[in-house]
This record gives sequence, C-alpha cells and structure tokens, in this order.
Amino acid sequence: MARKFYLTTPIYYVNDVPHIGHAYTTVVSDVIARFHRMLGQDVYFLTGTDEHGQNVERAAKARGLTPIQHADLMVERFRGLWRTLGIGNNDFIRTTEERHRRGVEKLYQKIVAKGDVYKDAYKGWYCTSCESFYPESQIVDGRCPDQGHKVDWTEEESYFFRLSKYQEPLLRHYADHPEFVFPESRRNEVVSFVGAGLKDLSISRSSFSWGIPLPGDPRHVFYVWFDALSNYITALGYGSDRKLYARYWPADIHLVGKDILRFHAVYWPAFLMSADEPLPRRVVAHGWWLRDALKISKSRGGAVDPGPLIEAFGVDAVRHFLLREMVFGQDAGYSDEAFIDRVNTDLANDLGNLVSRTLKMIEDYCAGKVPKSDHRFRGDEPLKEAARDAVSGFVKDFEELDFSAGLARVWSFIGLLNRFIVQNEPWKLSQDPGRRWALESVLYTVAEGLRIVAILVAPVMPASASGLWKRLGVPGDVTAASLQHVHWGELRPGQAIARGEGLFPRIDKAAYLKDVTLKEEPSMDAIKPAAPAAPVAISPAPAGAPAAPATAAGPGPTEIGIDEFARVDLRTARIVAAERVQGADKLLKLTVDLGVETRTIVAGIATRYPPESLIGKTIVVVANLKPAKLRGVLSQGMLLAASDATGQPYILTTEEPVPPGWRVK
Ligand code: MSP
Repeated sequence: MARKFYLTTPIYYVNDVPHIGHAYTTVVSDVIARFHRMLGQDVYFLTGTDEHGQNVERAAKARGLTPIQHADLMVERFRGLWRTLGIGNNDFIRTTEERHRRGVEKLYQKIVAKGDVYKDAYKGWYCTSCESFYPESQIVDGRCPDQGHKVDWTEEESYFFRLSKYQEPLLRHYADHPEFVFPESRRNEVVSFVGAGLKDLSISRSSFSWGIPLPGDPRHVFYVWFDALSNYITALGYGSDRKLYARYWPADIHLVGKDILRFHAVYWPAFLMSADEPLPRRVVAHGWWLRDALKISKSRGGAVDPGPLIEAFGVDAVRHFLLREMVFGQDAGYSDEAFIDRVNTDLANDLGNLVSRTLKMIEDYCAGKVPKSDHRFRGDEPLKEAARDAVSGFVKDFEELDFSAGLARVWSFIGLLNRFIVQNEPWKLSQDPGRRWALESVLYTVAEGLRIVAILVAPVMPASASGLWKRLGVPGDVTAASLQHVHWGELRPGQAIARGEGLFPRIDKAAYLKDVTLKEEPSMDAIKPAAPAAPVAISPAPAGAPAAPATAAGPGPTEIGIDEFARVDLRTARIVAAERVQGADKLLKLTVDLGVETRTIVAGIATRYPPESLIGKTIVVVANLKPAKLRGVLSQGMLLAASDATGQPYILTTEEPVPPGWRVK
C-alpha cells in the first residue's frame, strides 16, 4: 500500500487579503504535495482559513459587516487565489464550520478529562494583533516581542491549560525526535524557549464573542490559537467520523512561517499530548519575504499582490520564482527586478529557448516526428549520466526541502542540453545526408533530456510541464509520471511533436518597470460593505494620488472645505468607444467625449461591463487628474463608480440625458 503523506498549510486569517507571503506558504506546500504524489504516495493536502478572534471581529466591524459576512467574502479571495495558482489541495477547512466546532469541543473535553484545565484570573499584556499573551519580562517599550505590535494590559477571568506540566515531556520529545522541528536553527530556538520554562496558557477569552463557546461556560470563547491549531485534526473528522483521521493522522509536515513556529512546535504538541493523541512528525518553518528589510505584510505596507504578476507573466513564472529565489528556511528580499531577471533567465532564455529551438529543428529536419537515436552515436553518454544524477539529486534535495538547490540542479542539466546542441551543430549535420543518423541522434538526445526536465519541473510548474510534455508528443499526463522511475530512452521515436507557441515569453524589463508604479497593492478597499458604500473612483489610482475615501464605518477621511472639493474638476462625458486592455482582465480602454475634446480613460470595470454595452452612456469623470499609464495605455482621467461588497463596479451616470462636458458639483 502506498505510504500516506499528510501535509498542511497554516490556516489564513481572514482579516487581511492574501499577499505574496501567504502565497509562498501555500505554493511551497502545493509543490511538496505534488512532489510526494509523484513519488507514488497517498497524499492528503489541507489548507483553509482562520476566521475567529478579535482581529476578525474588528475588521468586520470596521466594514459594517457581521464577522461571518466579512469572512464569507474574504474566504473567496483566498480560494480564488489558490485556484489561480493551481493549488491542488484535497480539502479546505474554515474554522466557522460545524465539523470544526465539534472537533475543537472534543479535543477540549479530552484535555479537561485529563485534569489539564483550570479557571483563574488572567492579568497581563495581550497583543491583539498576534492574539497572544506575553509576560512582563518580554515586553519591549509597550510592544510585543514577536512582531513589535502594541500590547494592552488585560485583566479577566480565563480558563488555563497546564502547559507548564508539559515542559519536560516536550523537551524529551525534541531530544528523541531531532527531526520534529526543521530547520535545525529553528529547532534550537524552540528547545531554548521551552527550556527557559513554560507558563500555563490562557485558552479562553470573555472580552469578545466571535469564537467557539467553551462547552460548559459559553460566556467564554476559545482562544483563537486553540481553535485554529485544532483544524489539522478537525478537518480529518476528529470529533465526528474518524475515517480520515485514522488514515492520515499524524501529519507528516505542518508547514508554517517562522513567526508562528512556537504555536506549532510548543502549544500544539502539548495539547495533543494532553489529549493522548499522536504528535505531528515534523513542523517545518520557512523564512519571510521582505521588502526593504521588513516582513511583507499589509499592516506594514509594501505588500506584493501576486495577482498582477500572475496576470502579466503566468502562474508558473510566479511559482518558479518563489521556489527558486528563496533558500528554504531563510529570508529573501522581493523586488520586481529580481522577479523579471529570474523569469527571463531561467524560463525565457534557458528553458524556453531550448524548447523552441529543439522543436523547430525536429519540425524542419525530421518532418515534425521524434527521431530515433542510432546505436553508433556515443555522444549522448555524458548526458545520460547527467540526467541520472539530476533526477537522484533533485529527489534528494526536494525530500530535504532544499527546493532552490533542486531547481539549480535541473537548470545545470538544461545548461548541458544547450551546450550539447552548440557542440554538435545539428544545422551543419543537416547539410550532410551521410550523417543523418548523427543529426537524428542529437535531436533525440535533446528531446529526451527535455522529457526528463518536464518530469522534474512538474511539481513546481505543473501547467508548463504539461505543455512541454504535449509539445514533445508524449501521451498521458506528466503529473502522473513517477519520479522514482525516470529512465533514459522512454521517449518514443515516431511520435508527432506539437511546436505550438513559445512556453515562456520574455519580459520587457524596462517597459514593465515603467508601468509597475501603477500596480495596485492588494487592498481591503475592494471588500466593501454592501451599504452604505461611498462612491469611489475605480480607475487604478496613479502613484501618489490620494487614497480612496474610507467607507462608512471606518475612520473617515479628514474633512475638506468646499474650495478643496472645487479643485476636483468633475465633468460629464459620453463614451464613444470601448475595448478591452490586452493582458488585463479588469481593464477597459474607453474613448470619451468631453464636449471640447476626446480623451482616453482606462477603467477597472471589465468584470461587470462588456465594452459594447457602454457605448453612448453618459458618465462622470475626474477631468483634471494627472495622466497615468496603466498597462501601457495612457489614461487621461478617471471615471466614478460605486462598488458593492465584492468590489463589483456600478458606474455613475445622470438621471436625464445631459450633453458631455457639463460640470458636476
Ligand atoms: N491564522 C494564523 C495561522 C494559524 S495556523 C493554525 C496566521 N495566519 S496568517 O494569515 O497571518 O499567516 C499565514 C502564513 O503566512 C504564515 O505561515 C506566515 O508566516 C505566512 N506569511 C505572512 N507574511 C509572510 C511573508 N512576508 N513572507 C513569508 N510568509 C509570511 O498566522
């Protein structure tokens, strides 16, 4: 029977829109899951959302929504991004689901039965951002030691878990299972944290209500981390039907960012020990994506939205960049330059060009059919050996979670294939009918090398690997190939290749970087209350433009006088032409008549308005907005529209027909 492999991501807070840091955790998990599936294992891959707690309650309130309305909207952002990124999770758990509540209650009851819960008064410093308590000794300048957020003094009745009782058992577990925390440096941190002494942990809160009520005392809700960590077993039916639990628990890997390692490597195993449940095999911590040396996060600004990168360069470019650029376990800096360089070098130049020139030669010299290798040809021996080494090295690296090293190996092999072509000069061989066998052998060798490359890159770039597989005329699905049985020579001569389009177009770096200032950050503004919503301009605002007005329940913008408002030149305009902006799903390019002149305006309304439906409509535009380039198109103004709770635009128009160019005030 296939070995089981259970892998989890953290569940994401729904008080923030997903950014590249979240995408990293999920993409790495997906790559691990795909890799293990290609090793023939019975993989179960779980992700989900963390929807309770004070932060979510506050975020919802600020938007005039109930917590569950807010969560329902945000969850779609995560699910949508995971779909776009090609994430193949087996399940998605939300902590607001009934199955989760049942499992949390069950775990709690077992811990209570063990005598590990007692009621007491809590007094201490609480960080609402981290949803965590800290002892006085750890507070630095009124801020939490983990992330530097402001902490509040809190005094309330709370239920406590006897964490202190598990200090010794935990230390013993770390000693007996050195693989439990990875990488080594993080393991040492955990051991010294626990070695310094553990205080009992408050596991209930009564100052807010957005959570799972404690059985027996519903004035309290579970501490969000007790609730959240349980997801790893409640998703397997712990507390109800335990079939999946019996099959997959314990987890083989909990993948987490280093900021949440302590919860996973200290609290979680202690809860499980108390409940007499098996412990996960490994907790693996990755580093952070940084911008200007700070962790990328919405609250700190500088968040990078993977959406526009995916839209512009494709999913696989983003996946490859994330895995190749960061040395697993360490931090890495994000920059658009590094992204473009990586994609252009690895994908467009090295792999993309190799694929297109090989296919072109097979088309030109071999009538588009995979040629065969002649037994007289010996020049392929070094490549056969290199392929064997690349496969075994890659499998070892990926098993050890050293993804950048594994990919570097694949790219060394790609480099060999490129050099092999240059050395053998098939274009010269093609001139000599007596050496046709050599020409065919050379082209077979490169095509076979590329077949192996397709298998190796499949966990990281599944769509491109499939594209390459099909182009080489190999039947079946590359993701079903086994990484344990990669043998040279399985490419069948005589199969028709399908050259198709280039796999990875080159990015025009200068043009992209010029446009990039106009890229929007992922924004909570798109998640608006259904009513009352302030009319907002939805053309992407150029850099430096004032922020969009805050919505009803949020802290409003500062008051302005009528003179200030009068500086905004609002005009009626008639739409005379409309078309989509290439490569941007949301953008339309509108030609509008302003009475005295015609202008081009780029607006993010394509999700709701087909271009032809707009012709002849009268709209309201900001006529004196500094022009800005959006996706290479100069936008000379901005139209006004309201947006609903999901960010869908509703353009403003006039009740009665009015001519273009009238002032709006
Ligand atoms: N809800 C908790 C996890 C509960 S798991 C039982 C949480 N959520 S989170 O949305 O804030 O973070 C989820 C993951 O995203 C974490 O692994 C975190 O490390 C990761 N990242 C968030 N920002 C990041 C970067 N800038 N870089 C890399 N990953 C980071 O914590």
